[in-house]
Amino acid sequence: MPENDLDAYCAANQQRHVDELIEFLRIPSISADPAHAADVRRNAEYLANAARTAGFQHAEIIETAGHPAVYAERIVDPKLPTALIYGHHDVQPVDPLDEWHTSPFEPEVRDGNLYGRGAVDDKGQVWMHLKGVESVLAVRGELPLNLKLIVEGEEESGSVHFEDIVVSEQARLRADILVVSDTSIVAPGIPSLCTGLRGLAGVEVHVQGPVLDLHSGRFGGAVANPIAALAEILASLHDPVTRRVTVPGFYDDVRDPSPEERQLFASVPYSVDEFRVEAGDVPATVGEAGWTDRERLWARPTLEFNGIWGGYSGPGQKTIIPASAGAKITCRLVPNQDPARIADLVRDAVLAAAPVGVTVTAEAKGGGRPVVTSIDHPAVQAASRAMESVFGTTPALTREGGSIPPVESFARIMGLQAVLVGLGLPDDQIHAPNEKFTLDMYFKGIRVLGRLWDELAMALRTA
Ligand code: BES
Ligand code: MN
Ligand code: MN
Repeated sequence: MPENDLDAYCAANQQRHVDELIEFLRIPSISADPAHAADVRRNAEYLANAARTAGFQHAEIIETAGHPAVYAERIVDPKLPTALIYGHHDVQPVDPLDEWHTSPFEPEVRDGNLYGRGAVDDKGQVWMHLKGVESVLAVRGELPLNLKLIVEGEEESGSVHFEDIVVSEQARLRADILVVSDTSIVAPGIPSLCTGLRGLAGVEVHVQGPVLDLHSGRFGGAVANPIAALAEILASLHDPVTRRVTVPGFYDDVRDPSPEERQLFASVPYSVDEFRVEAGDVPATVGEAGWTDRERLWARPTLEFNGIWGGYSGPGQKTIIPASAGAKITCRLVPNQDPARIADLVRDAVLAAAPVGVTVTAEAKGGGRPVVTSIDHPAVQAASRAMESVFGTTPALTREGGSIPPVESFARIMGLQAVLVGLGLPDDQIHAPNEKFTLDMYFKGIRVLGRLWDELAMALRTA
């Protein structure tokens, strides 16, 4: 039974809250695909309208050199504390399409889960915020603090123009705390607050051999094979025994987790078997020697191969030496690694490993800095109380291995601290086919966020 008026309102409006989110998810706002640029814009306009309907007094589109962002605010009283919500309204591409049980942009509820692209990353969690605001206003008539909302359209494409917004809109975005719902809790019964995200640095490698594919009988044995050269280069980037990254200087700026941090990580429940299932039934976990899985995910850097191409992979045989081969590499970074420096180091290591007979080029791609948020900030205690009041348990303090570079931009440029109140679950299949948002989490999230503003207003007023 609902314990209070806010819970009662949320309970009475669940179906509408789901139906509305489904309409929002129908817009295919894929930022990576230029063919969907108009959809991303339509998505932004839809969101700006929805923000007004939810009770923001003012909502507008902020143009960028790429996809548009949405800004909205409800200023109650300049003397009250101000919270800024950040989220993203763009989504990942949907391929492979044939692995979806239902079409990614025709969302469907099955077994208490809402399936669709963007259901939880991050359109569903942005919508959760709108519905939280709507609910508080419906029940109380006013918010206990000033609220601002900035939702970008390029997060899944590296937030390339977002720092420009943070710089140019700094005055309007000014706030006492940043609230982000774009992460997950540990498990349905184990709520958590995220207190750190890794950064990212990318490098693309191209190996050029002959100008055209060659007959492998006529030339094989006397001409270098670009795929073999690429394999050699990539294999040289990890130590096969310790699985450490061998790139010279890679770990120079890594701040090892403190004993207290390691203790905190170890206190968060972890089952290797559950993790293996979440990871798609892998037979074992594997990673850098000397660290636990949690530490490897939350506090250690990595170098991953995201894609590789070259030569022939169609049916039957094709006896060639291919003209070229290539690979995409990204590194997950931890404090105090710098994305530009790491990309340079990886590029240098790739070029240094190039065997004779091929021409190797490597180009740095975008990235973002890691961020660790203060666990002593009064806003963390406030968010913890809001979560506890809904889940009945004190949330654990976790980190995530994923990246949300804008969180670091707000901290560096505006000195703004973040509290990461994400309501995803580890098995939500973000970026994969059949992404879902568990409706119980969506509904709980609306209530958590409804309470968060009271808790934050109190915590920040007395802070
Ligand atoms: N919401 C995710 C970040 C995330 C992933 C947080 C997993 C917690 C767990 C975000 O939308 C995302 O996918 N970020 C990208 C950033 C990249 C494109 C710079 C990522 O982590 O790959
Ligand atoms: Mn996201
Ligand atoms: Mn994402």
